[in-house]
Amino acid sequence: MQTATIKFERFQHAAEDDCQQRIVAAKAKLGKKLVILGHHYQQEGVYRHADFTGDSLKLSRHAAATDAEYIVFLGVHFMAEVADILSRPEQISILPDLSAGCSMADMANLAKVERSRRELSKLLDFDKTITPLTYINSAADLKAFCGEHGGIVCTSTNAPKMLEWAFAQREKVLFFPDQNLGRWSGYKMGIPLEQMPVWDPDQPMGGLTEEQIKNAKILLWKGHCAVHQMFREQNIINFREQHPEGLVISHPESPFEVCLNSDYVGSTEFILKTVNEAPSGTRWLVGTELNLVNRLAEKMKPEGKHVQFMSHVVCECSTMARIDPQHLAWTLENLAEGHVVNQIKVADDEAELARLALQRMLDAS
Ligand code: 13P
Ligand code: SF4
Repeated sequence: MQTATIKFERFQHAAEDDCQQRIVAAKAKLGKKLVILGHHYQQEGVYRHADFTGDSLKLSRHAAATDAEYIVFLGVHFMAEVADILSRPEQISILPDLSAGCSMADMANLAKVERSRRELSKLLDFDKTITPLTYINSAADLKAFCGEHGGIVCTSTNAPKMLEWAFAQREKVLFFPDQNLGRWSGYKMGIPLEQMPVWDPDQPMGGLTEEQIKNAKILLWKGHCAVHQMFREQNIINFREQHPEGLVISHPESPFEVCLNSDYVGSTEFILKTVNEAPSGTRWLVGTELNLVNRLAEKMKPEGKHVQFMSHVVCECSTMARIDPQHLAWTLENLAEGHVVNQIKVADDEAELARLALQRMLDAS
């Protein structure tokens, strides 16, 4: 007999231990029908249930490769969208809490990008001159925009390579929504800072002069990650004064000065790999989200490595944190009963164009 969908209210106040047991039981019942993909910023109470963990690039590859009927994403909205776009039509992508968005992704939207294109078209032939490049932290319709206009997607791992691809197509790049990733990646390619002006979509002509636009190699969208924006160059100066032998590693969403003063800059997967492989006795200052850093610090302790968070204020990604054991238990129990909740489905025409831009990235990286 068909049962009714279980309401989240029944899980809202469930105890953590109870949720843990329910997750394990439902996961066992679903077996190979289910794959759980977990981003490194997830809280431990759900991260431990992931079949695969990774950064955005690694997880998107897993989503494209899995045969599972249900792909449950422990991450944020754009990640579940990518899983839907890259998986087969009969596979179902699920986000346990629909309010888990990415505030940086929300800093660009299609209306503003289209308006920017119209404004830039007054000055130059957009489709012949500019390659749109969107960070994977963006909505599916922006990826579709890139697919339609000869553009591409990048992640924190492959941004410099995707910029190279973009410049091989056209002379300029419109990079959105993260100015920090765009600036750092452009700088690593040798592009002078003055040729990477910030394009403010809320100002006429991005707030730039005709001269600045004509001279630009990369137009950097005025967007950033509120979590990484909290890291400061002064945090690194203080650390180096106290621990001259210490090493600094940061995520490229951090401000330019932080990246410039770090020993290493890279994706979440790169950060974990680098510190994991470092010699015993090393000391690290890490500039990325708190859940990742806390977990890494615990794991490194027995190996005699000291891992320290870059900021003195809490820099947790509050939207990543919305995926908690209660939501995961609720999602999986429903699936085990044959009820799909919180499916993320991108409209077919949009998905097709977004897939084009994502596939260009996967092929080029
Ligand atoms: P990674 O792809 O490096 O995991 O980054 C994703 C993200 O949202 C960082 O804030
Ligand atoms: Fe988005 Fe920043 Fe959270 Fe990453 S850490 S998901 S960029 S808000």
